[in-house]
Amino acid sequence: MKNDYSFLGEAKTVAVVCNQWGDTGKGKIVDFLTPWADVVARGTGGANAGHTVAWEGKKFVTHLLPSSIFHDKEGKISIIGSGVVFDPRQCIAELTALHANGYASEHLRISRRAKLVLPQHIVLDRLSASRVNESLGTTGRGIGPAYSDYYNRNSLTVGDLFHRDTFAKKLQRNIEEKIARIREYDPSLVREILFHTHLGEGIFFNDETILNRDSIVEHFTGEYAEALRAYVTDTDELIHNTVGKKHILLEGAQGYLLSIDYGTYPYVTSSDCSIEGLAKGAGLSVRDVDLTFGVMKGFYMTRVGKGAFPTEMGGEEAQEYCSKTTKDEELRTHVDYSINEQDGFKQGIAVRINGNEYGATTGRLRRVGWVDLVLLKRALHVNGMNVILTKLDVLDGCEEIKICIAYQYTGEAFFLGRDTLAHGAILTSVHPDNSLLSSCEPIYKVFPGWKTKTSNMRSYQDLPQEMRTIIDFIENETGARVRMISIGPERDQTIVVDKDV
Ligand code: IMP
Repeated sequence: MKNDYSFLGEAKTVAVVCNQWGDTGKGKIVDFLTPWADVVARGTGGANAGHTVAWEGKKFVTHLLPSSIFHDKEGKISIIGSGVVFDPRQCIAELTALHANGYASEHLRISRRAKLVLPQHIVLDRLSASRVNESLGTTGRGIGPAYSDYYNRNSLTVGDLFHRDTFAKKLQRNIEEKIARIREYDPSLVREILFHTHLGEGIFFNDETILNRDSIVEHFTGEYAEALRAYVTDTDELIHNTVGKKHILLEGAQGYLLSIDYGTYPYVTSSDCSIEGLAKGAGLSVRDVDLTFGVMKGFYMTRVGKGAFPTEMGGEEAQEYCSKTTKDEELRTHVDYSINEQDGFKQGIAVRINGNEYGATTGRLRRVGWVDLVLLKRALHVNGMNVILTKLDVLDGCEEIKICIAYQYTGEAFFLGRDTLAHGAILTSVHPDNSLLSSCEPIYKVFPGWKTKTSNMRSYQDLPQEMRTIIDFIENETGARVRMISIGPERDQTIVVDKDV
């Protein structure tokens, strides 16, 4: 199918970010826009992302590689920018799987300034998950510890892979303090983590020193450097020379509400996954971006791991259940729940099963809740007003759709400085501070749902009136403009919204 990209107008640089907590289907949208692009760049996060792309009935998931990599043979340049924390082992594993499936990677470019994720980062990330008071429910890919080193001015970069002596010296400086911290944990747990497949099944383990420095130097500056040499370059220079001349597509990871700067801190990731962080991490300024699309699910949202979620279906009970249950268990026991269950907990399970809301990186259950306009307004403020709604088909047949329009604050009087938030106050705007959100009850406007199956619809005018009424409401309430709608995982299940036709 040949797509019509006239809706992008004169834009040369287009970005796709997420307005929720990630997992909104950015991968599919990037894949849809990739034929338009000459260059596709990632700028934030690392192997914590999971980009799912469906193609000819098959599903592909990449964690580190931009999803444009599947178009390499068409000459598309895929960039991993300097804002990314880069795990060479993960990248090589993804490349190997890609090549085995007949795909190429000739046009992949990796920033030599990207910061390395090293075995000690993954070990520390996984160890902190073992202590309840330290655990944020991370993906265990070493992301937080790797970014901490960056801000602590102690990182090793992709460029260091090609300088064995420098790498060894920097590693020595980096690793000492990590080993001391690792020694505070149960040695059998440390051993178990180091024997995980993500850490090469023990190749970096040493009985005495725990981490085998020589082995890290050997593998990283040897085999990994050689496998990656052809791709590593100054991507900032590459993208500066391209901007304004060719079509650039920026591929976001995670979502606004997980941004270290804007999200529900501390239950966030360690990079700024808003448009600002993405542009910078890809080597651009936000001023270079002509058009930003903020993706959100219609009309629900999900989050993985811990943190406040005012509109969660089933509330705390659901959060607790999601932290303890596996996908297999859920599918074995609860497939008969309907998305029209009166009980929010059961309804949440049904929506999760319907939407296949299980982590692409970790397989964890994604917590499910209704769309929240209070939080959306914050995201729009930074990511801009152009919105893409995805997965709308998941709610086909749902009798009532709830949209959160405000909160009632249910906590003790909360001193904000000059102002005090009183118990019972109604809030239509709030900073997504985790502790504040934890004491907010959603106030919903309830809309009738649509009964028809939407996955075969191909124009905005075909979509059920009930769905369009909700879209109009969200637009009027927030100022957002819905530009595209996705009603299934396949490329052709994408509708460019042209309301005036
Ligand atoms: P980290 O990014 O692995 O440090 O995890 C920090 C938080 O961000 C955890 O709650 C993760 O579940 C969440 N997170 C990280 N990446 C993603 C993603 O791609 N989708 C959804 N949640 C994510």
